[in-house]
Amino acid sequence: MSKTLRQLAELGAEYRDPIAVIDWSAADELRPWLPPEVLSLAGLPAQAAMDAGMLNRFSRVEFARLCAAGLWLEGLLISRVMKDGCLTTQPVEARIMLQEVREEAGHSLMFLEMVDRAGLGGVPLLGDIRLLSWIAHRLHPDSAEFWAMVYIGESVTDSFALAALRADSENICPLAREVLQFHHKDEARHIAAARTLLKTRIGAMSAPRRWLFRATLKFLLKRFLRATLYPTEASLRALNIPDPAGAARAAAQSPERRVFAEDCALSATRFIERTVMLPPELTGEG
Ligand SMILES: [Fe+2]
Ligand SMILES: [Fe+2]
Repeated sequence: MSKTLRQLAELGAEYRDPIAVIDWSAADELRPWLPPEVLSLAGLPAQAAMDAGMLNRFSRVEFARLCAAGLWLEGLLISRVMKDGCLTTQPVEARIMLQEVREEAGHSLMFLEMVDRAGLGGVPLLGDIRLLSWIAHRLHPDSAEFWAMVYIGESVTDSFALAALRADSENICPLAREVLQFHHKDEARHIAAARTLLKTRIGAMSAPRRWLFRATLKFLLKRFLRATLYPTEASLRALNIPDPAGAARAAAQSPERRVFAEDCALSATRFIERTVMLPPELTGEG
């Protein structure tokens, strides 16, 4: 059993409940929840036409979309891990999965609170997630594909949060900053665990299986980025901007947004590319 997994299980032994720990009174109505650079209409006329109040409101919509992506991914992880119990896994893996389940449930409650505070409960914030959800519900936690999807989901959303914190962590609303930082701290451990579990599973794959695995992930990653990092028409309609459908189409075709989305996926794609290319004897232990 991996030394890395044992250390991660030890680090995750103590639980911090975000609902109890976050300073909810730190909310500042006048400050945005995300800096303008990471918003999905950056560089487009629709965002250039927004005044400070509208940008502030748009940042809440985009933050709520990040929360919706978290709720979706965390829900999938919890349901898959708990559906079959942890009986088939090693004790250390089981401990890590159960730690993640309790942490993801806490994150989801925190995200739900933020969506509610943004006034966007019930607004469809994510793109088409039907195929990805269908596939995720059929993957077993023992499979490489399951941990690849967990890893990509966590790594992309965490890279987005880090891009926001790096761009302007001083001027965004202190509550939004605290939520991003709290989540990043737990996710650093989750991402390290997913990488280790994934690496071990890729190590057991034959060369043709690795090729198929890589091609499948490439296809799914595109759909994932499209569903989570681009605005839905409904979310833009909630903003009351003129021509929300046109703005959503412009974002989907924006080269600037494509580069940003690819940057968010870079650490995941690099790790998977590198691990798939490694000989089996170098991928057995995280
Ligand atoms: Fe999470
Ligand atoms: Fe996570």
